[in-house]
This record gives sequence, structure tokens and C-alpha cells, in this order.
Amino acid sequence: MIRVLFVCLGNICRSPMAEAVFRDLVDKENLTDRIDADSGGIGDWHSGESPHKGTRELLDKYQIGYKEIKARQVNLSDWGDFDYIIAMDEQNRKDMQNLSNKAGDAKLAKLMDFVQDPQEENIPDPYYTGNFDYTYELISEGCNELLRYIRTENNI
Ligand code: 4NP
Repeated sequence: MIRVLFVCLGNICRSPMAEAVFRDLVDKENLTDRIDADSGGIGDWHSGESPHKGTRELLDKYQIGYKEIKARQVNLSDWGDFDYIIAMDEQNRKDMQNLSNKAGDAKLAKLMDFVQDPQEENIPDPYYTGNFDYTYELISEGCNELLRYIRTENNI
């Protein structure tokens, strides 16, 4: 199983949105037996909570499921448990890098690294911007390109 972890700061806005969108794409491409996804936050303030209302409303709008998703903090073992660790912004990427003890060999990147000529290098945080639609637009594009990349790299 190829395992993908999406990481943001609080794990209630961006990374659960990315997890849900990516899972939906994997499902539509009939790859649920090959690729799994999870998400986590650098901070633990929202551990156990469902995604933010704005993220829930947006996923409802696009009929993308998120019922099982509950916030959790990232930890050292994620480095061994996942093949790809995908950060929403540069600060998340650095924080994740700092957590590494080189125990695992997960590939660490930002979601927008997979998009050619991206509108943004970092996914803006709707917890602060309030703009969940724009965040979704970027996450959707990023997840599509990430899935293309993973399929090519793993010949699936
Ligand atoms: P996220 O947004 O990283 O996209 O989940 C945030 C959610 C909560 C907080 C920060 C960012 N917070 O400080 O509680």
C-alpha cells in the first residue's frame, strides 16, 4: 500500500480538505486498494475534532466525504509509516523536516511542488483568510497532479 500524509498547522482546514479530495480522486480511479491517505497537524490544539465548518461546507458542496476524518498531531513515527508527506506550506514542510530523525525514508514535499507554474507556492490558510473556495481550487489542482506523479512513479 502506498501511504500519503497531508500536513498543515491545525489539521482542521487545509490538510483534511486535501485528504478528502485526494481520497475521492483515488476512489474515482479505482485505486483504493493501492493508495491510502491520512492527514495531521503540526499543532495539537484541535486533536479529535472534525474538520472546520468552512471545510465541511465546501466538501459537502462537492459531495466529497469526510465523516471519518478527525484531527491529530503528527509524530515521529509518521516518517516510517508514510511514503509521501505532503505539506500545505513552507513552514509546515520545515516543521515536518525538523521532526525527522531519518528513521523513515518518506518523500517530503509541498503540495504545490507538483503543479507546473502554480498560482501560489503555499496553500493559503482559510482559518485566517476565510476563503475556503480559493484554497479548494489550489488543493484540487495539487491533488490531481500529486496523484499523476504517484501513479507514474509507482507504475500504477
Ligand atoms: P489549518 O488552519 O492549518 O489549515 O488547519 C489552522 C487551523 C487552526 C489553527 C491554525 C491554523 N489554530 O491556530 O488553531
